[in-house]
Amino acid sequence: MSETAKINIQGKEIELPLILGSENETGIDISDLRAKTGAITLDIGYKNTGAATSAITYLDGELGILRHRGYAIEDLAENATFLEVAYLLINGKLPNNDEYKDFDLNIRHHTIVNEDMKNIFEAWPTASHPMGQLIAMISSLSSFYPESLGTGQNEEQKKLNVYRLLAKMPTICAMIYKKSLGHPFNYPQNKLDYVSNFLNMTFKHVTEDYEIDPVLVNALNKLLILHADHEQNCSTSTVRLVGSSHANLYASIGAGVAALWGPLHGGANQEVIEMLELIKADGGNVEKWVNKAKDKSDDFRLMGFGHRVYKNFDPRANIIKKACDDVLNKLGIHDSSLEIAKKLEQTALADPYFIERKLFPNVDFYSGIIYKAMGFPVEMFTVLFALGRLPGWIAQCNEMRDQKQPIGRPRQIYTGEILRPYVERGQR
Ligand code: CMC
Repeated sequence: MSETAKINIQGKEIELPLILGSENETGIDISDLRAKTGAITLDIGYKNTGAATSAITYLDGELGILRHRGYAIEDLAENATFLEVAYLLINGKLPNNDEYKDFDLNIRHHTIVNEDMKNIFEAWPTASHPMGQLIAMISSLSSFYPESLGTGQNEEQKKLNVYRLLAKMPTICAMIYKKSLGHPFNYPQNKLDYVSNFLNMTFKHVTEDYEIDPVLVNALNKLLILHADHEQNCSTSTVRLVGSSHANLYASIGAGVAALWGPLHGGANQEVIEMLELIKADGGNVEKWVNKAKDKSDDFRLMGFGHRVYKNFDPRANIIKKACDDVLNKLGIHDSSLEIAKKLEQTALADPYFIERKLFPNVDFYSGIIYKAMGFPVEMFTVLFALGRLPGWIAQCNEMRDQKQPIGRPRQIYTGEILRPYVERGQR
Protein backbone atom coordinates (compact mmCIF):
# COMPACT_ATOMS: atom_id res chain seq x y z
CA MET A 1 0.00 0.00 0.00
CA SER A 2 1.27 3.47 -0.93
CA GLU A 3 2.47 5.46 2.05
CA THR A 4 1.46 8.77 0.60
CA ALA A 5 -1.71 10.30 -0.77
CA LYS A 6 -1.65 12.59 -3.81
CA ILE A 7 -3.74 15.68 -3.94
CA ASN A 8 -4.15 17.95 -6.90
CA ILE A 9 -5.20 21.49 -6.07
CA GLN A 10 -5.80 23.81 -9.01
CA GLY A 11 -3.27 21.92 -11.12
CA LYS A 12 -0.65 21.66 -8.39
CA GLU A 13 -0.03 18.09 -7.23
CA ILE A 14 1.54 17.31 -3.88
CA GLU A 15 2.08 14.15 -1.90
CA LEU A 16 0.95 13.87 1.68
CA PRO A 17 2.14 11.20 4.13
CA LEU A 18 -0.30 8.52 5.28
CA ILE A 19 -0.46 7.73 8.98
CA LEU A 20 -1.51 4.17 9.81
CA GLY A 21 -3.04 3.21 13.14
CA SER A 22 -2.43 -0.10 14.91
CA GLU A 23 -5.75 -1.41 13.56
CA ASN A 24 -4.86 -0.13 10.07
CA GLU A 25 -7.02 2.97 10.20
CA THR A 26 -5.65 5.43 7.68
CA GLY A 27 -5.14 9.14 8.10
CA ILE A 28 -3.76 11.65 5.62
CA ASP A 29 -1.31 13.94 7.37
CA ILE A 30 -2.25 17.39 6.08
CA SER A 31 -0.11 19.43 8.47
CA ASP A 32 1.92 20.82 5.52
CA LEU A 33 -1.04 21.28 3.18
CA ARG A 34 -1.49 25.01 3.65
CA ALA A 35 2.22 25.76 3.58
CA LYS A 36 2.58 23.85 0.30
CA THR A 37 -0.67 24.82 -1.48
CA GLY A 38 -2.30 27.71 0.39
CA ALA A 39 -5.42 25.55 0.89
CA ILE A 40 -6.91 24.21 4.09
CA THR A 41 -9.39 21.36 4.57
CA LEU A 42 -12.96 22.18 5.52
CA ASP A 43 -14.83 19.66 7.66
CA ILE A 44 -17.66 21.25 9.57
CA GLY A 45 -18.44 19.26 12.70
CA TYR A 46 -15.09 17.41 12.27
CA LYS A 47 -16.92 14.48 10.69
CA ASN A 48 -13.78 13.35 8.90
CA THR A 49 -10.99 14.98 10.83
CA GLY A 50 -8.56 13.20 13.09
CA ALA A 51 -7.40 15.63 15.76
CA ALA A 52 -5.07 13.27 17.60
CA THR A 53 -3.06 10.09 17.49
CA SER A 54 -4.10 8.26 20.61
CA ALA A 55 -3.30 4.92 22.25
CA ILE A 56 -6.24 4.96 24.67
CA THR A 57 -9.43 3.82 22.94
CA TYR A 58 -10.08 1.99 19.70
CA LEU A 59 -13.49 2.25 18.11
CA ASP A 60 -14.82 0.77 14.87
CA GLY A 61 -18.23 2.27 14.24
CA GLU A 62 -19.07 -0.06 11.36
CA LEU A 63 -18.31 -3.24 13.33
CA GLY A 64 -19.55 -1.91 16.68
CA ILE A 65 -16.16 -2.41 18.35
CA LEU A 66 -15.06 -0.47 21.43
CA ARG A 67 -11.80 -1.30 23.19
CA HIS A 68 -9.83 0.46 25.89
CA ARG A 69 -6.07 -0.10 25.72
CA GLY A 70 -6.84 -3.28 23.74
CA TYR A 71 -9.48 -4.70 26.10
CA ALA A 72 -13.01 -5.21 24.73
CA ILE A 73 -15.68 -3.15 26.46
CA GLU A 74 -17.77 -6.32 26.90
CA ASP A 75 -14.89 -7.95 28.80
CA LEU A 76 -14.29 -4.92 31.01
CA ALA A 77 -17.98 -4.34 31.75
CA GLU A 78 -18.40 -7.98 32.73
CA ASN A 79 -15.28 -8.40 34.85
CA ALA A 80 -13.62 -5.17 35.98
CA THR A 81 -14.25 -2.58 38.64
CA PHE A 82 -14.66 1.04 37.57
CA LEU A 83 -11.42 1.98 39.34
CA GLU A 84 -9.53 -0.74 37.45
CA VAL A 85 -10.81 0.73 34.18
CA ALA A 86 -9.87 4.23 35.36
CA TYR A 87 -6.36 2.99 36.14
CA LEU A 88 -6.20 1.25 32.76
CA LEU A 89 -7.23 4.35 30.83
CA ILE A 90 -4.90 6.67 32.72
CA ASN A 91 -1.87 4.38 33.05
CA GLY A 92 -2.15 2.21 29.95
CA LYS A 93 -2.26 -1.16 31.73
CA LEU A 94 -4.51 -3.03 34.13
CA PRO A 95 -3.20 -2.71 37.70
CA ASN A 96 -1.81 -5.70 39.60
CA ASN A 97 -2.93 -6.19 43.21
CA ASP A 98 -0.36 -3.80 44.70
CA GLU A 99 -0.94 -1.12 42.07
CA TYR A 100 -4.69 -1.36 42.54
CA LYS A 101 -4.41 -1.13 46.31
CA ASP A 102 -2.20 1.92 46.05
CA PHE A 103 -4.47 3.64 43.49
CA ASP A 104 -7.60 2.87 45.50
CA LEU A 105 -5.99 4.04 48.78
CA ASN A 106 -4.84 7.31 47.23
CA ILE A 107 -8.33 7.97 45.94
CA ARG A 108 -9.97 7.10 49.28
CA HIS A 109 -7.52 9.47 50.97
CA HIS A 110 -8.75 12.47 48.95
CA THR A 111 -12.55 11.98 48.93
CA ILE A 112 -13.41 14.86 51.22
CA VAL A 113 -13.88 18.33 49.73
CA ASN A 114 -12.84 21.56 51.39
CA GLU A 115 -15.58 22.76 53.76
CA ASP A 116 -15.53 26.13 51.99
CA MET A 117 -17.00 24.43 48.93
CA LYS A 118 -20.26 24.22 50.85
CA ASN A 119 -20.46 28.01 50.63
CA ILE A 120 -20.56 27.80 46.84
CA PHE A 121 -23.55 25.46 47.05
CA GLU A 122 -25.30 27.88 49.38
CA ALA A 123 -25.32 30.54 46.69
CA TRP A 124 -27.32 28.48 44.20
CA PRO A 125 -31.09 28.23 44.07
CA THR A 126 -32.24 24.72 45.06
CA ALA A 127 -33.70 24.19 41.59
CA SER A 128 -30.52 24.98 39.62
CA HIS A 129 -29.62 22.24 37.15
CA PRO A 130 -27.06 19.76 38.53
CA MET A 131 -24.88 20.03 35.42
CA GLY A 132 -24.50 23.81 35.81
CA GLN A 133 -23.36 23.16 39.38
CA LEU A 134 -20.99 20.38 38.33
CA ILE A 135 -19.22 22.57 35.77
CA ALA A 136 -18.62 25.23 38.41
CA MET A 137 -17.59 22.83 41.17
CA ILE A 138 -15.05 20.97 39.05
CA SER A 139 -13.49 24.21 37.77
CA SER A 140 -13.52 25.64 41.29
CA LEU A 141 -11.20 22.84 42.47
CA SER A 142 -8.43 24.86 40.78
CA SER A 143 -9.10 27.62 43.34
CA PHE A 144 -8.70 25.18 46.22
CA TYR A 145 -5.51 23.70 44.76
CA PRO A 146 -3.70 26.70 43.24
CA GLU A 147 -0.49 24.65 42.98
CA SER A 148 -2.25 22.85 40.09
CA LEU A 149 -2.12 26.02 38.00
CA GLY A 150 1.56 25.96 37.06
CA THR A 151 2.68 24.40 33.78
CA GLY A 152 5.94 22.92 35.07
CA GLN A 153 4.43 20.34 37.41
CA ASN A 154 6.36 17.23 38.43
CA GLU A 155 4.95 13.71 38.15
CA GLU A 156 3.86 13.63 41.81
CA GLN A 157 1.88 16.86 41.41
CA LYS A 158 0.24 15.56 38.24
CA LYS A 159 -0.75 12.34 40.02
CA LEU A 160 -2.18 14.34 42.91
CA ASN A 161 -4.47 16.22 40.51
CA VAL A 162 -5.69 12.89 39.15
CA TYR A 163 -6.34 11.41 42.61
CA ARG A 164 -8.10 14.56 43.75
CA LEU A 165 -10.34 14.67 40.72
CA LEU A 166 -11.30 11.00 40.82
CA ALA A 167 -11.81 11.13 44.59
CA LYS A 168 -13.78 14.35 44.86
CA MET A 169 -16.03 13.82 41.84
CA PRO A 170 -18.41 11.34 43.60
CA THR A 171 -18.48 13.58 46.68
CA ILE A 172 -19.38 16.61 44.57
CA CYS A 173 -21.99 14.67 42.54
CA ALA A 174 -23.63 13.43 45.75
CA MET A 175 -23.57 16.96 47.22
CA ILE A 176 -25.33 18.23 44.10
CA TYR A 177 -28.07 15.65 44.60
CA LYS A 178 -28.46 16.51 48.28
CA LYS A 179 -28.58 20.20 47.37
CA SER A 180 -31.49 19.51 44.99
CA LEU A 181 -33.42 18.05 47.94
CA GLY A 182 -32.36 20.79 50.33
CA HIS A 183 -30.89 18.06 52.56
CA PRO A 184 -27.61 18.12 54.52
CA PHE A 185 -24.57 16.64 52.81
CA ASN A 186 -23.15 13.25 53.79
CA TYR A 187 -19.42 12.96 54.32
CA PRO A 188 -17.55 10.24 52.44
CA GLN A 189 -16.90 7.00 54.34
CA ASN A 190 -13.49 5.84 53.22
CA LYS A 191 -14.00 2.28 54.38
CA LEU A 192 -16.38 1.95 51.42
CA ASP A 193 -15.38 1.19 47.84
CA TYR A 194 -15.74 3.91 45.20
CA VAL A 195 -19.25 3.09 43.98
CA SER A 196 -20.65 2.19 47.42
CA ASN A 197 -19.26 5.41 48.86
CA PHE A 198 -21.00 7.42 46.16
CA LEU A 199 -24.32 5.61 46.69
CA ASN A 200 -24.04 6.08 50.45
CA MET A 201 -23.33 9.82 50.15
CA THR A 202 -26.20 10.14 47.69
CA PHE A 203 -28.97 8.06 49.18
CA LYS A 204 -28.27 7.85 52.89
CA HIS A 205 -30.82 9.95 54.68
CA VAL A 206 -29.37 11.73 57.70
CA THR A 207 -32.05 10.36 60.03
CA GLU A 208 -32.14 6.78 58.75
CA ASP A 209 -29.89 3.80 58.19
CA TYR A 210 -29.01 3.05 54.61
CA GLU A 211 -28.12 -0.39 53.38
CA ILE A 212 -26.02 -0.41 50.25
CA ASP A 213 -27.66 -2.77 47.79
CA PRO A 214 -25.10 -4.89 45.88
CA VAL A 215 -27.48 -4.94 42.89
CA LEU A 216 -27.17 -1.15 42.65
CA VAL A 217 -23.40 -1.26 43.21
CA ASN A 218 -22.92 -3.77 40.40
CA ALA A 219 -25.24 -1.93 38.04
CA LEU A 220 -23.61 1.44 38.65
CA ASN A 221 -20.12 -0.07 38.38
CA LYS A 222 -21.08 -1.41 34.93
CA LEU A 223 -22.68 1.84 33.82
CA LEU A 224 -19.64 3.87 34.87
CA ILE A 225 -17.36 1.50 32.95
CA LEU A 226 -19.54 1.79 29.85
CA HIS A 227 -19.17 5.57 29.95
CA ALA A 228 -15.48 5.68 30.90
CA ASP A 229 -14.06 6.77 27.54
CA HIS A 230 -15.14 7.13 23.95
CA GLU A 231 -12.13 8.56 22.14
CA GLN A 232 -12.50 11.97 20.45
CA ASN A 233 -16.17 12.77 21.22
CA CYS A 234 -17.42 16.32 21.76
CA SER A 235 -16.61 16.64 25.47
CA THR A 236 -13.26 14.85 25.22
CA SER A 237 -12.23 17.01 22.28
CA THR A 238 -13.23 20.01 24.39
CA VAL A 239 -11.07 18.83 27.28
CA ARG A 240 -8.13 18.32 24.91
CA LEU A 241 -8.65 21.68 23.22
CA VAL A 242 -8.88 23.60 26.50
CA GLY A 243 -5.95 21.62 27.92
CA SER A 244 -3.90 22.38 24.81
CA SER A 245 -3.76 26.03 25.94
CA HIS A 246 -2.08 24.67 29.10
CA ALA A 247 -5.13 25.52 31.20
CA ASN A 248 -5.06 23.39 34.38
CA LEU A 249 -6.67 19.94 34.49
CA TYR A 250 -9.63 21.06 36.64
CA ALA A 251 -10.56 23.89 34.26
CA SER A 252 -10.09 21.64 31.22
CA ILE A 253 -12.38 18.99 32.68
CA GLY A 254 -14.92 21.61 33.80
CA ALA A 255 -15.12 22.62 30.13
CA GLY A 256 -15.65 18.98 29.17
CA VAL A 257 -18.56 18.76 31.61
CA ALA A 258 -20.09 21.79 29.89
CA ALA A 259 -19.79 20.13 26.48
CA LEU A 260 -21.31 16.92 27.84
CA TRP A 261 -24.41 18.74 29.09
CA GLY A 262 -25.86 19.31 25.60
CA PRO A 263 -28.82 17.12 24.58
CA LEU A 264 -26.99 15.91 21.47
CA HIS A 265 -24.25 14.49 23.71
CA GLY A 266 -24.50 13.34 27.34
CA GLY A 267 -27.66 15.37 27.98
CA ALA A 268 -29.52 12.86 25.80
CA ASN A 269 -30.01 10.44 28.72
CA GLN A 270 -32.24 12.96 30.50
CA GLU A 271 -34.03 13.74 27.23
CA VAL A 272 -34.75 10.04 26.59
CA ILE A 273 -36.70 9.62 29.83
CA GLU A 274 -38.52 12.90 29.28
CA MET A 275 -39.40 11.71 25.75
CA LEU A 276 -40.66 8.34 27.03
CA GLU A 277 -42.78 10.10 29.67
CA LEU A 278 -44.17 12.38 26.98
CA ILE A 279 -45.07 9.42 24.77
CA LYS A 280 -46.66 7.66 27.74
CA ALA A 281 -48.70 10.74 28.65
CA ASP A 282 -49.75 11.00 25.01
CA GLY A 283 -51.28 7.50 25.12
CA GLY A 284 -48.21 5.46 24.15
CA ASN A 285 -48.67 5.86 20.40
CA VAL A 286 -45.11 5.01 19.43
CA GLU A 287 -45.74 5.16 15.66
CA LYS A 288 -46.87 8.78 15.95
CA TRP A 289 -43.58 9.78 17.62
CA VAL A 290 -41.47 7.81 15.18
CA ASN A 291 -43.26 9.68 12.38
CA LYS A 292 -42.58 12.99 14.14
CA ALA A 293 -38.86 12.09 14.31
CA LYS A 294 -38.88 11.43 10.56
CA ASP A 295 -40.68 14.65 9.71
CA LYS A 296 -38.08 17.22 8.60
CA SER A 297 -40.42 20.12 9.38
CA ASP A 298 -40.62 18.92 12.99
CA ASP A 299 -37.65 19.56 15.33
CA PHE A 300 -38.36 16.39 17.30
CA ARG A 301 -35.65 13.72 17.14
CA LEU A 302 -35.71 10.30 18.66
CA MET A 303 -33.45 10.92 21.64
CA GLY A 304 -31.01 8.11 22.39
CA PHE A 305 -30.98 7.19 18.71
CA GLY A 306 -28.20 7.69 16.20
CA HIS A 307 -24.50 8.21 16.65
CA ARG A 308 -21.75 10.05 14.83
CA VAL A 309 -19.49 7.02 14.66
CA TYR A 310 -21.58 3.89 15.25
CA LYS A 311 -23.30 2.87 12.05
CA ASN A 312 -24.38 -0.67 12.92
CA PHE A 313 -24.87 -0.86 16.65
CA ASP A 314 -23.51 0.79 19.77
CA PRO A 315 -21.90 -2.04 21.77
CA ARG A 316 -22.55 -0.10 24.99
CA ALA A 317 -26.28 0.03 24.24
CA ASN A 318 -26.43 -3.77 23.83
CA ILE A 319 -24.83 -4.29 27.25
CA ILE A 320 -27.03 -1.64 28.88
CA LYS A 321 -30.23 -3.08 27.42
CA LYS A 322 -29.46 -6.43 29.03
CA ALA A 323 -28.39 -4.79 32.30
CA CYS A 324 -31.63 -2.84 32.29
CA ASP A 325 -33.73 -6.03 32.24
CA ASP A 326 -31.53 -7.58 34.96
CA VAL A 327 -31.65 -4.58 37.28
CA LEU A 328 -35.40 -4.06 36.99
CA ASN A 329 -35.99 -7.79 37.58
CA LYS A 330 -33.65 -7.91 40.58
CA LEU A 331 -35.17 -4.78 42.10
CA GLY A 332 -38.66 -6.06 41.31
CA ILE A 333 -39.51 -2.84 39.48
CA HIS A 334 -42.00 -2.69 36.68
CA ASP A 335 -41.45 0.43 34.60
CA SER A 336 -43.79 1.03 31.70
CA SER A 337 -41.12 3.35 30.19
CA LEU A 338 -39.07 0.21 29.45
CA GLU A 339 -41.94 -1.25 27.43
CA ILE A 340 -42.37 1.98 25.51
CA ALA A 341 -38.60 2.12 24.92
CA LYS A 342 -38.55 -1.44 23.56
CA LYS A 343 -41.55 -0.78 21.31
CA LEU A 344 -39.95 2.45 20.11
CA GLU A 345 -36.73 0.62 19.33
CA GLN A 346 -38.57 -2.15 17.47
CA THR A 347 -40.65 0.30 15.44
CA ALA A 348 -37.70 2.52 14.52
CA LEU A 349 -35.41 -0.38 13.65
CA ALA A 350 -38.00 -1.70 11.17
CA ASP A 351 -38.51 1.69 9.56
CA PRO A 352 -36.71 2.47 6.27
CA TYR A 353 -35.89 6.02 7.48
CA PHE A 354 -33.84 4.65 10.39
CA ILE A 355 -32.47 1.69 8.40
CA GLU A 356 -31.20 3.87 5.53
CA ARG A 357 -29.57 6.35 7.90
CA LYS A 358 -28.13 3.58 10.10
CA LEU A 359 -29.73 4.96 13.23
CA PHE A 360 -29.64 2.64 16.25
CA PRO A 361 -30.17 3.04 19.98
CA ASN A 362 -27.08 4.55 21.58
CA VAL A 363 -25.68 4.37 25.11
CA ASP A 364 -28.23 6.88 26.37
CA PHE A 365 -31.34 5.01 25.23
CA TYR A 366 -31.60 2.51 28.10
CA SER A 367 -29.23 3.97 30.72
CA GLY A 368 -31.83 6.43 32.01
CA ILE A 369 -34.27 3.62 32.79
CA ILE A 370 -31.66 2.01 35.05
CA TYR A 371 -30.76 5.33 36.71
CA LYS A 372 -34.45 5.94 37.32
CA ALA A 373 -34.89 2.47 38.83
CA MET A 374 -31.93 3.19 41.11
CA GLY A 375 -33.73 6.27 42.42
CA PHE A 376 -31.92 9.09 40.60
CA PRO A 377 -33.99 12.01 39.33
CA VAL A 378 -33.64 12.71 35.59
CA GLU A 379 -31.66 15.92 36.17
CA MET A 380 -28.88 13.80 37.70
CA PHE A 381 -28.50 11.47 34.71
CA THR A 382 -25.91 13.53 32.85
CA VAL A 383 -23.99 14.02 36.10
CA LEU A 384 -23.72 10.21 36.27
CA PHE A 385 -22.43 10.18 32.68
CA ALA A 386 -19.79 12.73 33.74
CA LEU A 387 -18.83 10.63 36.77
CA GLY A 388 -18.19 7.72 34.41
CA ARG A 389 -16.42 9.76 31.73
CA LEU A 390 -13.98 11.43 34.14
CA PRO A 391 -11.11 8.89 33.80
CA GLY A 392 -11.37 9.13 30.01
CA TRP A 393 -11.12 12.92 30.11
CA ILE A 394 -8.12 12.71 32.44
CA ALA A 395 -6.36 10.08 30.32
CA GLN A 396 -6.98 11.99 27.09
CA CYS A 397 -5.86 15.32 28.51
CA ASN A 398 -2.71 13.82 30.02
CA GLU A 399 -1.89 12.00 26.79
CA MET A 400 -2.26 15.21 24.80
CA ARG A 401 0.02 17.07 27.22
CA ASP A 402 2.57 14.23 27.33
CA GLN A 403 2.69 14.26 23.52
CA LYS A 404 3.44 18.00 23.76
CA GLN A 405 0.66 18.68 21.31
CA PRO A 406 0.55 22.33 20.15
CA ILE A 407 -2.35 24.57 21.07
CA GLY A 408 -5.51 23.52 19.19
CA ARG A 409 -6.53 26.24 16.82
CA PRO A 410 -8.65 25.35 13.76
CA ARG A 411 -8.76 27.58 10.69
CA GLN A 412 -11.81 28.75 8.77
CA ILE A 413 -13.03 29.79 5.35
CA TYR A 414 -14.14 33.37 5.73
CA THR A 415 -17.51 34.10 4.05
CA GLY A 416 -18.22 37.64 5.32
CA GLU A 417 -17.92 41.09 3.78
CA ILE A 418 -14.70 42.08 2.03
CA LEU A 419 -12.89 45.28 3.02
CA ARG A 420 -15.16 48.34 3.24
CA PRO A 421 -14.63 51.80 4.72
CA TYR A 422 -16.12 53.01 8.01
CA VAL A 423 -19.12 55.30 7.42
CA GLU A 424 -20.23 57.90 10.00
CA ARG A 425 -23.31 56.71 11.98
CA GLY A 426 -25.56 59.47 10.65
CA GLN A 427 -24.73 58.54 7.04
CA ARG A 428 -25.50 54.82 7.21
N1 CMC B 1 -33.94 10.99 15.17
C1 CMC B 1 -34.31 11.27 13.89
N2 CMC B 1 -33.44 11.47 12.87
C2 CMC B 1 -32.15 11.41 13.16
C3 CMC B 1 -31.66 11.15 14.46
C4 CMC B 1 -32.62 10.93 15.48
N3 CMC B 1 -32.21 10.67 16.74
N4 CMC B 1 -30.32 11.16 14.46
C5 CMC B 1 -29.94 11.44 13.21
N5 CMC B 1 -31.05 11.58 12.41
C6 CMC B 1 -31.06 11.82 10.96
C7 CMC B 1 -30.68 13.26 10.65
O1 CMC B 1 -31.82 14.09 10.59
C8 CMC B 1 -29.99 13.12 9.32
O2 CMC B 1 -31.01 12.91 8.34
P1 CMC B 1 -30.80 13.47 6.83
O3 CMC B 1 -29.65 12.69 6.27
O4 CMC B 1 -32.09 13.22 6.17
O5 CMC B 1 -30.48 14.93 6.97
C9 CMC B 1 -29.24 11.78 9.45
O6 CMC B 1 -30.01 11.02 10.40
C10 CMC B 1 -27.81 11.92 9.92
O7 CMC B 1 -27.82 12.61 11.16
P2 CMC B 1 -26.81 13.75 11.57
O8 CMC B 1 -27.48 14.66 12.53
O9 CMC B 1 -26.21 14.36 10.33
O10 CMC B 1 -25.69 12.90 12.29
P3 CMC B 1 -24.61 13.44 13.28
O11 CMC B 1 -23.51 12.46 13.25
O12 CMC B 1 -24.28 14.87 13.01
O13 CMC B 1 -25.35 13.41 14.71
C11 CMC B 1 -26.23 12.65 16.76
C12 CMC B 1 -25.24 12.37 15.63
C13 CMC B 1 -25.96 11.66 17.90
C14 CMC B 1 -26.02 14.07 17.30
C15 CMC B 1 -27.67 12.48 16.23
O14 CMC B 1 -27.87 11.15 15.80
C16 CMC B 1 -28.72 12.87 17.27
O15 CMC B 1 -29.09 14.04 17.36
N6 CMC B 1 -29.23 11.88 18.08
C17 CMC B 1 -30.14 12.20 19.16
C18 CMC B 1 -29.37 12.70 20.36
C19 CMC B 1 -28.62 11.61 21.07
O16 CMC B 1 -29.15 10.53 21.34
N7 CMC B 1 -27.36 11.90 21.45
C20 CMC B 1 -26.53 10.97 22.21
C21 CMC B 1 -25.38 10.45 21.41
S1 CMC B 1 -24.59 9.02 22.21
C22 CMC B 1 -23.89 9.67 23.65
C23 CMC B 1 -22.67 10.44 23.36
O17 CMC B 1 -21.59 9.82 23.32
O18 CMC B 1 -22.76 11.65 23.15
